[in-house]
Amino acid sequence: MGIWRARLVDLWLDCVSLLHNPFGVKQLLVTGSSGLIGSEVVTFFCRENWEVYGLDNNMRKDFFGPQGDTLWNRDRLQKNFKTFRYLEVDVRDRNESWRSWQKSGPRQSFIQPRT
Ligand SMILES: NC(=O)c1ccc[n+]([C@@H]2O[C@H](COP(=O)([O-])OP(=O)(O)OC[C@H]3O[C@@H](n4cnc5c(N)ncnc54)[C@H](O)[C@@H]3O)[C@@H](O)[C@H]2O)c1
Repeated sequence: MGIWRARLVDLWLDCVSLLHNPFGVKQLLVTGSSGLIGSEVVTFFCRENWEVYGLDNNMRKDFFGPQGDTLWNRDRLQKNFKTFRYLEVDVRDRNESWRSWQKSGPRQSFIQPRT
C-alpha cells in the first residue's frame, strides 16, 4: 500500500510540475548555491536535468576573507551545467530577490503556487 501511495504522490507532483511549466522542465531555487551544501544540491538536480536557479552573493568571502571566496564553485557549476542559472542576490533583500526572480528566475506560479 505504501509504495502505491508514494507512486501516486510522485505522479501528482509530476502533474503539478507540468502544470506550472508547459515545457515539462522541473525548476528549483537554491539559496547559498555556491556553498558546500548548496552546490551539492545544484549538482544533484542538474544531473537529473532540472533547471536550477542558484542565489548567492559570495557573502562567505565577507565572513572568512579570501579563503572563503566561493566564486570558483559558482564558475565550476556554470561551466559544468547548462541548466544552472546563477543570480547574484543577497537573500536578505526581499525586494532585490523578488526582482531577480521575476526577471530571470522561476515564474511566480512556481514560487507562490497558490496565488
Ligand atoms: N557543512 C555542513 O556540514 C553543515 C551541516 C549541517 C548544517 N549546515 C548548515 O547549512 C548551512 C549552509 O552550510 P554550507 O556548509 O553550505 O555553508 P557555506 O558557507 O559553504 O555556504 C553558504 C553559502 O551561502 C552564501 N550566502 C551567505 N549569506 C548569503 C546571503 N545573505 N545571500 C546570498 N548568499 C549568501 C555564501 O556566500 C555561501 O556560498 C549553514 O547554515 C550551515 O550551518 C552545514
